[in-house]
Amino acid sequence: MSSFEPLVFSGVQPTGNLTLGNYLGAIRKFVALQDTHNCIYCVVDLHALTINPSPQDLIDGRRAIAAAFLASGIDPVKHIVFNQAAVFQHSELAWVFNCIARMGWLNRMTQFKEKAGKDRENASVGLFAYPNLMAADILVYRATHVPVGDDQKQHLELTRDIAQKFNWDYRERTKALDLGVPMEIGDETIDGYFPITEPLIEGPATRIMSLRDGTKKMSKSDPSDLSRINLTDTADDIAKKIRKAKTDPEPLPGDTSGFQGRPEAENLVNIYAALSETSNDAVLQEFGGQQFSVFKPALAELAVEKLAPIADEMRRLMADPGHIDAVLATGGERASALAEKTMVDVRRLVGLTV
Ligand code: TYM
Repeated sequence: MSSFEPLVFSGVQPTGNLTLGNYLGAIRKFVALQDTHNCIYCVVDLHALTINPSPQDLIDGRRAIAAAFLASGIDPVKHIVFNQAAVFQHSELAWVFNCIARMGWLNRMTQFKEKAGKDRENASVGLFAYPNLMAADILVYRATHVPVGDDQKQHLELTRDIAQKFNWDYRERTKALDLGVPMEIGDETIDGYFPITEPLIEGPATRIMSLRDGTKKMSKSDPSDLSRINLTDTADDIAKKIRKAKTDPEPLPGDTSGFQGRPEAENLVNIYAALSETSNDAVLQEFGGQQFSVFKPALAELAVEKLAPIADEMRRLMADPGHIDAVLATGGERASALAEKTMVDVRRLVGLTV
């Protein structure tokens, strides 16, 4: 192989409601990339175990994410849609990476610090090692591109560090077995086994903020449901949440320099720009100088127009869980075949097989 085939991989956790942040920051990009790349999209149910969901919540959550993928327009025939637990090779490679990644690297992960809170001694080992499993999700397919929101940036840097260290540590055997691709590390060219994955984090929607606090990320786990728009919210819910969204008394600025110190205004304009697939500048050209009493109803109308068809299709799909399970099972078989190819090589490279 002289270079890595372009391949997109991404995942979403089946925990809680999917939000507008997940949709605009990730899923909508997944849909767009289907036209130009081979794509693998995963419901990461093993990751969800880190927050100890009830078994039924995990089962329902897995189906809901799969339904959201399909309802948003992901094609499970041309591409691959599956759940992580169906492909044991993710866990196997994660163990290899547990032995590659250093404690110091994981200690720096801000998401772990946020999620573990003050009582770190009591956090699960799974939550700490989570980024290693994430690296395995991506690299078990030797994926080259990963569309995500801004909050996953640090995890993707770690994925690159793990790939680099693996490539360096096993460079001689990779060359001897002729399994690598020439790549530069420092001023040396080696045969590396894993690609150095590129994150795809761009556009106005990489970080959608809470509707109640423009300095906090919109999140599935925020205790206040008013802080987020869920993909399954009704038109009335969406309108109510936007009406109640925190703002300030000033009209919208004429250009983006006027967002200084106005995170809530910036967030609502970002959302409008992302939903209408234009830029913040274009939105401000239309609404600059207007009051929120004008802008909010326009935003609510746009959000309902874009999200209601997805919510309707999700409900239709969720009414037939057998169909969703069958789609995931087929995707799991296809993903397993690809992952096993990588693991045959990895077992040889590290010496677990000859
Ligand atoms: P998760 O399930 O928390 O979120 C799924 C995707 O949604 C993006 N996202 C947002 N984007 C913009 N604004 C927001 N407010 C917002 N909230 C969430 C996330 O960045 C993510 O892209 N660790 C991952 C799942 C994962 C994964 C992977 C992703 C596991 N393995 C391999 C990529 C590749 C996570 O917890 O995402």
